[in-house]
Amino acid sequence: MLEGKTYLITGIADEHSLAMYTAREIIKNGGKVVCTGLGVSKHHSDLSDKAKAFLNQNYEDFKQSVQKELGDSHTAILDVTIDANIESFAQELADKNIKLDGFLHAIAMDKTIRKKEVKPLIDVTLQEFCDTMDVSAYSLISVTRHLIEKNVLQKGASICSLSYIAAAKVTFHPYRNISIAKAALERITVELADELGRKHQMRCNAVRFSPFMGSKAGNATLRPEDVETSNRMSPLGNARPEDLAFEIVHLFRPESRITGEIRHVDGGYHITG
Ligand SMILES: NC(=O)c1ccc[n+]([C@@H]2O[C@H](COP(=O)([O-])OP(=O)(O)OC[C@H]3O[C@@H](n4cnc5c(N)ncnc54)[C@H](O)[C@@H]3O)[C@@H](O)[C@H]2O)c1
Repeated sequence: MLEGKTYLITGIADEHSLAMYTAREIIKNGGKVVCTGLGVSKHHSDLSDKAKAFLNQNYEDFKQSVQKELGDSHTAILDVTIDANIESFAQELADKNIKLDGFLHAIAMDKTIRKKEVKPLIDVTLQEFCDTMDVSAYSLISVTRHLIEKNVLQKGASICSLSYIAAAKVTFHPYRNISIAKAALERITVELADELGRKHQMRCNAVRFSPFMGSKAGNATLRPEDVETSNRMSPLGNARPEDLAFEIVHLFRPESRITGEIRHVDGGYHITG
């Protein structure tokens, strides 16, 4: 189905990342992947020793899991908060003549959730608000722009991002700050679908997925009872990461005319929750 196609997969932290499930499914369907992980790039400056150690460990885990799960797929460092890093990454792909048929945005960060405790929205600072927006929403625009400017993202490409029902509703697990960023991510998806569809025949969709504790982000934020609650409330039970990967590959199919959709892969939670 994806024979001869190449997709950028962002947001792999390790083999349990939702993005990794998608990368595996792309390869299973005959496609190729380019993977990016968070690490120390030449554009980082003034990092504390602690931050440097964290980023180095993150990149090591990323590289090892890509090697183990995806063989010799192309890997690169990408920190979406640094515009110069996004630009040089896009330039690197252009220099290597790597053309992309789409990409998965699977990036989110919210420092107002700590040890599964969510800071009340009323206490969220402007800096915390903007940092979460930057990483989790605006990055969809900036990564897309640089890939188009360097002529890496091809006409007809398909872009997909990962969202959550909390973008629209207060749920059993109120996420507050990140929910607002997810709402922005979804709105960006719709606006880009219109702009890029008309200009480049590109598609842009988002998928709201069930709570999943297997990944680092999921494990840091969710409690087992949250996952049980949504499992009980979903007619089909919680969707699995494999279900998500299957749907993303469907949205990546070159012949599809689906765009501007906010899809649910959540076992039907959205009709009851
Ligand atoms: N786990 C869930 O329950 C769930 C449910 C619905 C949607 N999602 C979304 O799926 C996506 C992937 O999350 P996951 O659950 O696989 O967790 P994960 O921890 O495996 O992935 C999150 C990724 O974001 C990356 N990231 C954070 N800051 C970054 C930055 N500045 N630059 C580049 N990358 C950065 C991390 O390195 C990590 O790879 C996120 O957008 C998340 O909100 C998760």
